[in-house]
Amino acid sequence: MLRLPAIEKPLNPFPHYETMRKTEPVFQDQETGLWHVFRYDDVQRVLSEHATFSSRMAGGDPTGTGQLFAASLINTDPPRHRQLRSLVTQAFTPRAVEALAPRISEITEELLAPALSAGSMDLIAELAYPLPVIVIAELLGIPAADRDRFKQWSDFIVSQARPTTDEPGQPGSQDRGTADAEMAEYFMGMIEERRQHPGNDLISKLLAAQIDGEHLSVVELLGFCALLLVAGNETTTNLIGNAVLSFTENQGIIERLGADPALLPHALEEVLRYRSPVQSMYRIAAVDTTLGDYRIPAGAPLVAWIGSANRDGLQFPNPDAFDVGRSPNRHLAFGQGIHFCLGAPLARLEANIALQAVISRLPGLALAPGARLERMESSIIYGLKELPVSWAA
Ligand code: HEM
Repeated sequence: MLRLPAIEKPLNPFPHYETMRKTEPVFQDQETGLWHVFRYDDVQRVLSEHATFSSRMAGGDPTGTGQLFAASLINTDPPRHRQLRSLVTQAFTPRAVEALAPRISEITEELLAPALSAGSMDLIAELAYPLPVIVIAELLGIPAADRDRFKQWSDFIVSQARPTTDEPGQPGSQDRGTADAEMAEYFMGMIEERRQHPGNDLISKLLAAQIDGEHLSVVELLGFCALLLVAGNETTTNLIGNAVLSFTENQGIIERLGADPALLPHALEEVLRYRSPVQSMYRIAAVDTTLGDYRIPAGAPLVAWIGSANRDGLQFPNPDAFDVGRSPNRHLAFGQGIHFCLGAPLARLEANIALQAVISRLPGLALAPGARLERMESSIIYGLKELPVSWAA
């Protein structure tokens, strides 16, 4: 029997997925009881058939994301899910998000400026990581003076995925409860402040929003803030990092993208497919059901392997080729159905702006000589710990 733990975090998990798609496309790990689902059609079903595969994480915390957003939309089913989601869709439509473009460009330029003359940098630490944190902080109306604290919590929340330092006083040495509690306290203060002095930020808008005449509870508001931090930051960081990795390892692509910027959005969709930042999502079977030949009992926890679905040769011809012109490209990197990523337009916009800047500002961009690439300590998130690059300064 194939065992999962040994293959959890390699830089190249794709051959393992392929083996599983061919030999055990629906596989129950006897130790954990988890059902692992590997084929495109099955993953698509598990993600989108919400009446059969529930997102409610009853009590448990298989995603490791804490209790803070137990009440948030990613962990709820209809009808509550629809109500919660309707409150925030307005803030994340492509049109609303497009308005952020000038500011995202400005932040990108500010982040790149110190590196420009150096000729080398860690692209993750200096650009891909801070950019989405700053954008989401501004969207939530976090004052610039608090940005460092905000970033520490954000670091800490995702530290199960991306290790932070263990020095005393650093977030990496805090325990999880302390960070959650501190952040909750901060947001409570922020919520109270916005209640008194509403602004044009997302927290103020959420405070004003109502479902059937009722406002969101403070717990729901807190959950939403935490969800945006977790769902939006690390993922976008890794889309940017994975894009630079994929572009630099395929000869001629950077030149093509430089000559034809209209190709960039397609190339980013291919990055989303080829190195999906979110490799897997969880569900719980709400009723007895079947997946292919396998009977799944009600209550069974499942892992839908998005990273595997996106390499399924039955859906994508020549699936292991990185093809920036791939069409159609119906990848599942943002999920599917009612939980389809709320932040997809924002993630696409940020990545587009960041990559455009990288391509035009860092001529001759390449992996730094001798760079050793290591994947982050997570089987759910696909991204690099560091991405040393160099260019002709
Ligand atoms: C490349 C970057 C991103 C990737 C790959 C990604 C991936 C995903 C995936 C796979 C889901 C579906 C979860 C499920 O089916 O259970 C999802 C949901 C979600 N994402 Fe993203 N995400 C990204 C960026 C963002 C950003 C920037 C934000 C917000 C600022 C965001 C906010 C959310 C939220 C709120 C949900 C829950 C939606 C719901 O349950 O209705 N994501 N994301």
